[in-house]
Amino acid sequence: MQAVLMMRKDSCYCLKAFVLLVISIWCLEVGSTDVQTSLPGQLKFAHVIYRHGDRMPVDPYPTDPWNDRKYWPTGWGQLTNRGKLQHYELGKWLRKRYSSLLDTKYDNEQIYVQSTDVERTLMSAESNLAGLYEPVGDDVWNAQIKWQPIPVHTVPEKEDAIVAAKAPCPAFEYYLENFMNSEKYRSLLARYKNLFDYLSNNSGRAVQTFIDAQYLNNTLFIETLYNRTLPVWAQKVYGSPDLTFISNFAFSINTHTRKLARLKTGPLLKDVLNRFEIKHKKQLKPDRNVFIYSAHDTTVANLLNTLKLFQFHSPPYTACILLELRVDDKDTPFVSVFYKNTTAEPLPMNIPGCGISCPLAKMFELYEEVLPENWVDECKRSTLTMTYEEANLGAATGILIGIIAILLLASYGLMIYYRRRDYKMHNSYAQMA
Ligand SMILES: *[C@@H]1O[C@H](CO)[C@@H](O)[C@H](O)[C@H]1NC(C)=O
Ligand SMILES: *[C@@H]1O[C@H](CO)[C@@H](O)[C@H](O)[C@H]1NC(C)=O
Ligand SMILES: *[C@@H]1O[C@H](CO)[C@@H](O)[C@H](O)[C@H]1NC(C)=O
Ligand SMILES: *[C@@H]1O[C@H](CO)[C@@H](O)[C@H](O)[C@H]1NC(C)=O
Repeated sequence: MQAVLMMRKDSCYCLKAFVLLVISIWCLEVGSTDVQTSLPGQLKFAHVIYRHGDRMPVDPYPTDPWNDRKYWPTGWGQLTNRGKLQHYELGKWLRKRYSSLLDTKYDNEQIYVQSTDVERTLMSAESNLAGLYEPVGDDVWNAQIKWQPIPVHTVPEKEDAIVAAKAPCPAFEYYLENFMNSEKYRSLLARYKNLFDYLSNNSGRAVQTFIDAQYLNNTLFIETLYNRTLPVWAQKVYGSPDLTFISNFAFSINTHTRKLARLKTGPLLKDVLNRFEIKHKKQLKPDRNVFIYSAHDTTVANLLNTLKLFQFHSPPYTACILLELRVDDKDTPFVSVFYKNTTAEPLPMNIPGCGISCPLAKMFELYEEVLPENWVDECKRSTLTMTYEEANLGAATGILIGIIAILLLASYGLMIYYRRRDYKMHNSYAQMA
């Protein structure tokens, strides 16, 4: 009896355990098959744009008690071991997500990696690839290290209009100045004037723009992360809603108007959409499946804002945008945008006016105004790029100069006329005398 009861109890537990197991497997399954598999079509191509990993402050402020290099593990602005590990983990995650696009054995005709020409982004790309392409089989070249070299391309920043977006563009500078002179910007600046003054007074460096304040916030952020006690004045403002808002808002400035977005990030978005189109037409040579761009928080924020998907925040280390191309049975190409800014699965982004899976043709339509036709020409500062007011001012100045010239000429003419008359009169006087 006792034994039977025990048995019953046991089998009851077993059954319960079994049911729990089934439920949890089912849950895991549902959890891991995020929206990805429910999207129409088959995954064909992915662009991955990410921020570098954990780094040191770029440039501490003059009164910073921590502004001596001896307090830090690596040089100013450099990637740290934590940063390497973060990217290695992201590389492992990308290996899983794109196993259908990339063989485990490295094939140079499947992937292309480009980084901005900055040490932390170059090192991040290399750490990421260590996770993505751990050598297996024939790729093992040295039994001592689980790593193989994979090329990372780069372009000097001043020549890079696509990833670094630092190639000179005078028209962009002109529109940015216009924006900074706008009522909207000026009143926002005025609202935070006290905070800017406070930061300038205490940091020993002029903090005059949102971006200046963001840099300072970033140094305080890293010092806090590294358990370096902030000076009392900094404790009073770091983490406050105002300073956090300013830092986050600053990320939207370079793409704040559609004109700015077009000139700053248009080349990158156009590069991505064009490559999707070429890939779909089977004209991509070599016929690669994945492009990776290693870049900065600004790159991530600018691209999100250009896509009208940016919610004010500071893109964290390894924040990553995935732009994926899927093709359905009717051979229609669709684009999806995912944003991964935590270690959890990425968020599918709702493309405004299109949803989480948007026909490629519709993408070109939706973003037409931010896709430059000829970026080099559009960057030239000609009268075409002047605002209406400035063009009018130009015309008004022209008219004014014209009027002055006519008046001068007229007075000169009159002067000569009177001189002559005087002369004649004198003559006649003389004659008279
Ligand atoms: C900054 O310093 C100036 C001059 O010392 C002072 O007049 C001003 O009140 C200070 N401003 C803030 C916000 O601390
Ligand atoms: C600014 O500080 C906040 C914390 O208050 C932090 O979450 C954010 O990432 C910081 N922004 C930058 C650009 O460092
Ligand atoms: C800062 O301190 C916390 C809590 O002790 C610790 O978990 C963290 O690793 C420290 N950060 C660094 C960079 O050492
Ligand atoms: C992640 O991105 C979402 C969507 O833009 C944003 O609302 C959130 O604040 C971000 N979180 C972090 C930690 O970056």
